[in-house]
Amino acid sequence: MSTHRVERLKINYKTLEEFQKFREYGAQELSMLEDLQANIIENDSNSPFYGIYEENQLVARISLYRIDAKYDRYFKPAQDYYELWKLEVLPQYREQKYGTALVNHAKKFGLPVKTNARCRSDEFWRKMGFQPVTYDPVRDRGENPFVWLPPGVGLQN
Ligand SMILES: CC(C)(COP(=O)(O)OP(=O)(O)OC[C@H]1O[C@@H](n2cnc3c(N)ncnc32)[C@H](O)[C@@H]1OP(=O)(O)O)[C@@H](O)C(=O)NCCC(=O)NCCS
Repeated sequence: MSTHRVERLKINYKTLEEFQKFREYGAQELSMLEDLQANIIENDSNSPFYGIYEENQLVARISLYRIDAKYDRYFKPAQDYYELWKLEVLPQYREQKYGTALVNHAKKFGLPVKTNARCRSDEFWRKMGFQPVTYDPVRDRGENPFVWLPPGVGLQN
């Protein structure tokens, strides 16, 4: 059992500064920074990010976004699910189950989870209990989708 404690991240200047240590820093973070600057979001507003701290430093993070059932093209029966992206563990913390702890957190909501397995991470996702879906060029458009199915949930194709 992992003892890593997963927290929902607060979007504030400190969190956005910590995000700069991660390889995948881009439009999503910049838009949150703009929202902060324009006072559109509060310091403690709910964010799609979850992370793990070690000695007050963010060392691993994940973004989880709930997709409405009406957009579901993966699961049978069609239902709300989580799209997972930006899973990243800082290099010196890898292979210590931080990634596992974050993925387990995503599964705890009890809804299916879909991700795009990038960076040749298929083996990692299989170890997390995910499976690839049959590639659909119209739906998947170059992605490499892997899904996790809770009991009783199947695939649309
Ligand atoms: C992929 C990543 C999130 C894994 O996090 P981690 O904390 O190192 O993983 P864990 O320690 O929880 O590993 C769980 C298992 O997966 C294996 N594993 C870890 N990274 C792997 C990878 N890239 N490919 C294949 N297997 C991997 C581990 O060896 C371990 O196997 P075991 O249970 O047999 O010992 C991390 O390496 C990372 O941030 N990589 C860069 C970004 C990336 O590739 N993101 C994912 C795809 S977009």
